[in-house]
Amino acid sequence: MPQTLIRGRVLTFLREPQGPGDHQAYSYEEDGAVLIDGGRIVASGAYGEVSRAAAPGCTTADHRPHLIMPGFIDTHAHFPQMQVIASFGAELLDWLNKYTFPEEARFGDPAHAAGIAEFFLDELARHGTTTVAAYCSVHPQSADALFEAAARRDMCIIAGKVMMDRNAPDNLVDTPPTSYDDTQALIRRWHGKGRARYAITPRFAITSSPEQMEMAGALAREHPDLHIQTHLSENRDEIALACSLYPEAPDYTGIYERYGLTGPKSLFGHCIHLSEREADALSESGSVAVFCPTSNLFLGSGLFDYQRYRRRAKPLRVAVATDVGGGTNYSMLRTMDEGYKAIGLQGEKLNPLSSFWQITRGNAEALALADEIGTLGNGTSADIVILDAGATPAMALRMERAKTLAEELFVLQTLGDDRAVVQTYVAGKAMKGSTGGGDGIRD
Ligand code: GUN
Ligand code: ZN
Repeated sequence: MPQTLIRGRVLTFLREPQGPGDHQAYSYEEDGAVLIDGGRIVASGAYGEVSRAAAPGCTTADHRPHLIMPGFIDTHAHFPQMQVIASFGAELLDWLNKYTFPEEARFGDPAHAAGIAEFFLDELARHGTTTVAAYCSVHPQSADALFEAAARRDMCIIAGKVMMDRNAPDNLVDTPPTSYDDTQALIRRWHGKGRARYAITPRFAITSSPEQMEMAGALAREHPDLHIQTHLSENRDEIALACSLYPEAPDYTGIYERYGLTGPKSLFGHCIHLSEREADALSESGSVAVFCPTSNLFLGSGLFDYQRYRRRAKPLRVAVATDVGGGTNYSMLRTMDEGYKAIGLQGEKLNPLSSFWQITRGNAEALALADEIGTLGNGTSADIVILDAGATPAMALRMERAKTLAEELFVLQTLGDDRAVVQTYVAGKAMKGSTGGGDGIRD
């Protein structure tokens, strides 16, 4: 594969910004470039220097005047819920029973699962997302479909079939032994193949019996390098039901602790109503609390206390995610816009530098994958998004008043969506059909 040189304004984060004026937290080149070889970044920085490193015959993609950033990372989404998104009028438990479970039952059909898997990854790429941690349905063939679709794109993916053996329709439950065996087989088939990683995925304590939670814990012990993903403390009724099903546990988090499911590779979706004990337990174990703002607002679940969680004496590791289809948009820009508002309702602000750090390097660190994704560092995968803050007439008009990079990022977050994504590269390969305007690939 020949080298590709991507030219534009290059922005990547070096560490978490400490405030809106923390210019040491990022690297920015007004006339910048990224050089890609074999799907990896081999140089990035000032165009003059990077272009000198390019081999003769290198292809150039000239994206000036747009921003070049690491591709966005979505740390929690449900691919079988593409036809559930935008379902009216229910809170979590009713929403699961009324809309979600009947839809997920369709994923026993491998052809259906394969079609939606393709659609899902295309839709993510259209929105600038290059890595996702995804829940599949209970059917192992749904996980095969998603891993196959990701492999065809050479896309970094973390995914797992949900383990669920109770409190769901008969056509949507497994059993403790089958969930264990199916998960083991999927791990053997997919984990570490190309860019795929398997996540042990007990859906949540309500749909897993104690026997199945034992199985999830056994899988976690046998595969300590794997991610674990589940849901925690999303909604008051859910918390009450989970605690009633596990009366011996001190609280909801204590259920997962008891089965050995907390830890630095554990991703807990929602974490809205945590007690101080639960937050301490998550912090001490290095677990990650996943903020899903559009979902939390859409399902009326509550407000994730992002700033307090991060400031507390025992801080939480935090990631951000769409939670499609409880979440209402595939875009991490739309997600951070809603996140900003949810944080604002708690009397706090999230500055735009921190926002864009979070959906790139911050989420990569939360997934323990910052060596591979989330930055434009040499040797990392060439997962890149090209952003245009003037993509719509209203954005272009607003940009006439923007003077700083932080202002531009805030316009992108507040007004941007898939229209602001000019191109998405996955492992160096352009995912969007044709580039319009002044954006084109030139030899
Ligand atoms: N809790 C258990 N399953 C789900 C799900 O599919 N979506 C959300 N938002 N919460 C859950
Ligand atoms: Zn979820």
